[in-house]
Order: sequence, then structure tokens, then C-alpha cells
Amino acid sequence: MDTVSFLESNKSQRLDELFEFLRFPSVSAKSEHKGDVTACAEWLAKQMNKIGLDVKIMPTGGNPIVYGSKISSPDKLTVLYYGHYDVQPPEPLELWKTSPFDPILENGYIIARGTTDDKGQLLTHLKAIEAYLATGRELPINVKLMFEGEEESGSENLEKFIKENVKLLKADLVVISDTAQFGKNRPAVTYGLRGVAFVELKIIGPDRDLHSGTFGGAIPNPVNTLARIISRFHDNEGKVAIPGFYKGVRPTSAWEKKQFKKLPFKKEEFLAKTGAKGFFGDKNFSILERIWSRPTLDINGITGGYQGEGGKTIIPSWASCKITMRLVPDQDPMDLCHKLEKFIRKVCPKYVECQVTIHGGAKGVVVPTDGPWLKAAGVAITTGFGVEPVFMKEGGSIPVVGMFKQTLGLDTLLLGWGQNDDNAHSPNERMSYDDFERGCYSSLALIDELAKVKR
Ligand code: BES
Ligand code: MN
Ligand code: MN
Repeated sequence: MDTVSFLESNKSQRLDELFEFLRFPSVSAKSEHKGDVTACAEWLAKQMNKIGLDVKIMPTGGNPIVYGSKISSPDKLTVLYYGHYDVQPPEPLELWKTSPFDPILENGYIIARGTTDDKGQLLTHLKAIEAYLATGRELPINVKLMFEGEEESGSENLEKFIKENVKLLKADLVVISDTAQFGKNRPAVTYGLRGVAFVELKIIGPDRDLHSGTFGGAIPNPVNTLARIISRFHDNEGKVAIPGFYKGVRPTSAWEKKQFKKLPFKKEEFLAKTGAKGFFGDKNFSILERIWSRPTLDINGITGGYQGEGGKTIIPSWASCKITMRLVPDQDPMDLCHKLEKFIRKVCPKYVECQVTIHGGAKGVVVPTDGPWLKAAGVAITTGFGVEPVFMKEGGSIPVVGMFKQTLGLDTLLLGWGQNDDNAHSPNERMSYDDFERGCYSSLALIDELAKVKR
């Protein structure tokens, strides 16, 4: 049997396996799911072992990394595949139409937490590799696979792991499927990702909640104060007002401008997908530039005071918020965190205590847009999807891409099989069954095409 026929003959088993994978609530953000995360890693290792890879579960300071390889000759190209088996928390549960860890196939979509981000996408590469090994063929490339369990909580232990395993991870290039296509039947090669930086801010006033009648007007209210501080993060035009925030940000190149124009992007459709009433941001930049090529600052959550049933007349003791900045290449996460902290300390009134916690983050990246590997990817995607891919960027972040470049000098092919309306990180996450299948065929074709590239 040839490899394509193997994929043809194996469809229902492949889907069953994806369902098994999706049943693990491998939520990395929550310690209560530690056991589920470990069980998921063990399941993944077992699958990889079954198809004939040499596998080990490698501990880190956090969740384990599942590593597998099949090295047949030092003369062959070595591809390092990366993916993440952890998922985002499913909450709010009441907005799910089905149970998040009980996958179903409905109207052409596989619905469950982690389907598109990233279990479904990750599995396509395993299935392509399996097609070779299960039909008794030698792989025409060396493969290394590294699956992480902490991507959704910032990949905090990953840099150390990569630095400690430089030899193990030695490869010619990296392949990651953890992004989206440009749209329906518009597969894409992603050449840029934004970085991210995390900061928490807590404002503390009185040492306990106080009666707002007895004390209000004379004792500072931390919620009011926090709101005033947050209101200064942006100017009236939607630009971030932190001094030095845009330092080093590259202008959109002529090549990129041309590339963005080529894309069949409809502003109104994009807006409609979100349910929001209108756009926000710096009008000097197009919508695609705003989400792909410009840095941002957003409050992810805000807490303070009384929000329960009925009223409660208090001056709250404290208020806090979580902040993330999305960064573009050449911006350093720590540098931006410090600039933000300095600004906060400058604008924060002395009558409250201000606690700033810096968590750092990941750098933004751009990867090459030409060369033999990209050509191979273009052919492979055309084989799997029946359409040539477009070039695009993503506003989201995959911390490992910058680490691979910095530590191992490796470039990454970002070949995403998802869609931006797959509800990643949202209720009712899904992945089109056809996209999952086309991903498998594309990955198989990628092995064949990369094998043809002269080293
Ligand atoms: N798969 C996403 C990255 C992504 C986001 C790709 C949007 C394409 C579009 C990844 O799992 C993710 O969510 N990354 C986090 C990283 C963060 C926790 C450091 C992100 O972007 O928020
Ligand atoms: Mn992901
Ligand atoms: Mn994600």
C-alpha cells in the first residue's frame, strides 16, 4: 500500500484517535488538572511509540515534554516538529453547546476544547509520519517531534529545556501547525507572529473595605484610582501612550504592503465574526497592520470591590488588573515591561500603594518568505488543499519560535490548518473535519517535498 492509500484507508481510526486525545482536560493553567496533563502526555507518548518512534517523556520544571524521533541517516534532512498538547481552560462552561472534553463531529466540525489549538493540528503530523512507517517504508527525512504541555500558560520552562537539549534538538528546520489559514479554502504560510509581555498591577488603599459614607470623599478608592491609571494607557487616537512604546517598531515594508493588499480581506466580514459594534485603534494603520504588525496593550481582566448580588456601599481595599502587551520584532518583552512599570509609577498617586509584577514574555518573530523549504511547503499545501497558500502574519504568539531561532539558529515553517473562527480560547472550539484531513495530506506531501530539497 502506498502512503496516500494508507491515509485513505485509515480515516475513521484517525478520527477516533483525535477524539481520545481531546478527552483529556489537559488545562495547563490550573493545578487541579496536573494529573490530566500528565495522563495526556502519557497517551501521546504511547501513540508515538505505537507508530514506531523512539519516545521519551522528559520532565521540566513544569509539565513534561513528549519527545520522539526517527533518525534513519545523517545525510537526510532533519525536521523538528513542535506542537502543544495543553489547552486553554474551557470556562465559561454555560456558553458551550456540548461538553468541552466530550468531542463530537457535527455539521463537518469536530467540536471540543483543543481541537484547533493544538491537538487536531499536532496530530496531522503524527498521522503523516505513521503513513510511512505503517506501510513499511523508510522515512525520506529524519524526524524529531517535541510536544509541549505549557504553551497556553506562557512556555515558562521551555527556554531552559531547549538550552539543556541543544544536541537532541539539532535539526535543519522546524515545522509547526498551530496557526490559522487566511480563510475558508485559503491555506496560508504564516511568516510573522507577535510577541507578548505580561504585567500585573495591584492598587492598595485602606487596609480593609470601609463604609463609603463614613470615609468616602476623604480616603482614596483603589478601584477609582486603577481606572484612572488604565485610562492613561491609550491616547484618544488609540495609540499606546507609554513613553518609548513604539521605539524600534519596523514600518511596514513595501513588500508587505503589497502582500497585505493581495489578500481577500473584508473589514466588515472580519468585524462581523467578532460581534463587536465597531473598530478600535490607530487610524493611520489598516486593520491587518493593526493586528499583525503593530504592538498593543490590553487589560485582560480587572478585579476589585463588591460585584455580588445587590449593593454594598464600600470603599474597596484594593483593585487589580492583568495586562498584556503584544509585541512586534525588535521589541524586547522585559524592556517593555519596565517601560510600563515606570509609567505606572509616574502616574500613580502617592495616596495608594502600587504593586507591579512583571512576568516577561516572548519575542515577536518574522521567518523567511522564500527559499527551498518554503517552496516545498507551497507544493505540499497545494497537494493537500488543492489551492496554493497565501502569505500572512498572525497577531498571536508562539513563544518557542523565537527560542528556536535564538538558541538553535533554526527557522520555522508555520503551516496552520485552522481558521480564525474556530473559537480558539473561546467556548465551542472547533476544527473543520476537512481541514484536519487536508492537514494530514499536506503534512504527508511535505515530507516528500522536503526530502527532495538538496542540503
Ligand atoms: N496557537 C496560539 C497562537 C496563535 C494565536 C496562532 C492566534 C494564531 C492566531 C497559541 O496557542 C496561543 O494561544 N499562544 C498564546 C501565547 C501566550 C500564552 C504566551 C497567545 O498568543 O496568547
Ligand atoms: Mn496553540
Ligand atoms: Mn492557544
